[in-house]
Amino acid sequence: MTKYLTSRANAETRPIHLVNQRGLKEWLTGKPVAVRRWLEASAFDAAPGRFTLLPDDKKGIGGVLVGVDETDMLWACAALPAGLPLGRYRIETDLSADDATAVALGWLLGTYRFDRYKSFESGLSSLVWPKTADQKAALGMAEGISLTRDLINTPAEDMGPAELAEAAKALAKAHKGKFKAIVGEDLLKKNFPSIHAVGRAAEKTPRLIDLKWGTKGPRVTLVGKGVCFDSGGLDLKPAGGMKMMKKDMGGSAHVLGLASIIMAAKLPVRLRVLIPAVENAVSGNAFRPLDVLDTRKGLTVEVGNTDAEGRLVLSDALTEACSEKPDLLIDFATLTGAARVALGTDLPAMFCNNDTVAAMLLRHGELEGDPVWRMPLHQPYRKQLESKVADLSNISNGPYGGAITAALFLEHFVEGATPWVHFDVMAWNLAARPGRPEGGEAMGVRATYGMIKEFVAQGGSA
Ligand code: BES
Ligand code: ZN
Ligand code: ZN
Repeated sequence: MTKYLTSRANAETRPIHLVNQRGLKEWLTGKPVAVRRWLEASAFDAAPGRFTLLPDDKKGIGGVLVGVDETDMLWACAALPAGLPLGRYRIETDLSADDATAVALGWLLGTYRFDRYKSFESGLSSLVWPKTADQKAALGMAEGISLTRDLINTPAEDMGPAELAEAAKALAKAHKGKFKAIVGEDLLKKNFPSIHAVGRAAEKTPRLIDLKWGTKGPRVTLVGKGVCFDSGGLDLKPAGGMKMMKKDMGGSAHVLGLASIIMAAKLPVRLRVLIPAVENAVSGNAFRPLDVLDTRKGLTVEVGNTDAEGRLVLSDALTEACSEKPDLLIDFATLTGAARVALGTDLPAMFCNNDTVAAMLLRHGELEGDPVWRMPLHQPYRKQLESKVADLSNISNGPYGGAITAALFLEHFVEGATPWVHFDVMAWNLAARPGRPEGGEAMGVRATYGMIKEFVAQGGSA
């Protein structure tokens, strides 16, 4: 991926011109007749997403003209690495530093391919780094996002709790962080009963992954749902619903990607990443409907449905996270189908107990072209989680507001004073768009990174 951004132009490097619809006429003034005729004949209108090759005076390619919308520079050139004749290109148009960085990141993301099991025949074109681009920022972001995508795309057979832990360990090593995992029966000994209960049925041993990095600055703790495959458990999912559930560790892939970005940028934070990694499997020792589980916090939970397993494993991780009183606690999870019914597949549902942090997130979502949507922690719905035999049920007693009741379940395990964000994400592109192939996707990560950066710059309190 990173090899497609180069520092050197050569004699064959072709120019790319970026133009918006209003500016097309002006751009054309003084251009050779051949160019003007060609654009007219091909009805090129500079609509965002359209691009065309330009002729030179020797019947060759003189360059590329790309229609852009200045508010969306990130994806402006993302279709080009795979869409242009193979070669080297440079951006001819003057760009602000932010736009140059965005275009470079879009190019990098446009070269992402999941090639673990298949090699791709067709090549990809390279871009000369735009002059004012922040190379470090673009590379750090692209590497983090590509890590998230790879982890999600890898099938459950090759991305179980152990492999997920290996990925976290490798990441910790690359940035001189600390890695630890509590595995199998030790989960019981060290009091992580709900992670163990959900994960115990699987051949692949459950574990709690714990990564630490950084020695100064605010404590930022990331928690990610790491259900490496969600069969639903004894409340087995139907085939259609189960098919995509290799992506149910998407939350953990998000926090590892985000951690990679934070560490690459050497952001002055004391970072901790906690991932309850399990497979929700079916076997003779699987946890059952109406079992009552212990949690690390001491609350008892009645299992209304074994398919609502994410909130169970997250509850113990959130309790552990809060024991250190972080300045900021953020979790990502593919938690509910209901969040997708509410907001569709692309828009992450964001819940937050702190209005300052939520406002920052919404703003950075807009700024980075990575929108998130705030949903309410509507307290009156808490009673829908009541159980007659335990402190709490893991499902709501009705069919409505499932993303909200899931978030309210998690809130029981968060210390009230801790600024906390919960993301319920799809983690998957159902259809390809430029720079965003079908498959695993990081959603809300750029917005969150922008927010954390600002949070740190403000002194780390909200
Ligand atoms: N992993 C699923 C949620 C999910 C499903 C996310 C499809 C994205 C796409 C989760 O563990 C689950 O099964 N949740 C149930 C909860 C229900 C039993 C209360 C759901 O959303 O149906
Ligand atoms: Zn489930
Ligand atoms: Zn799940």
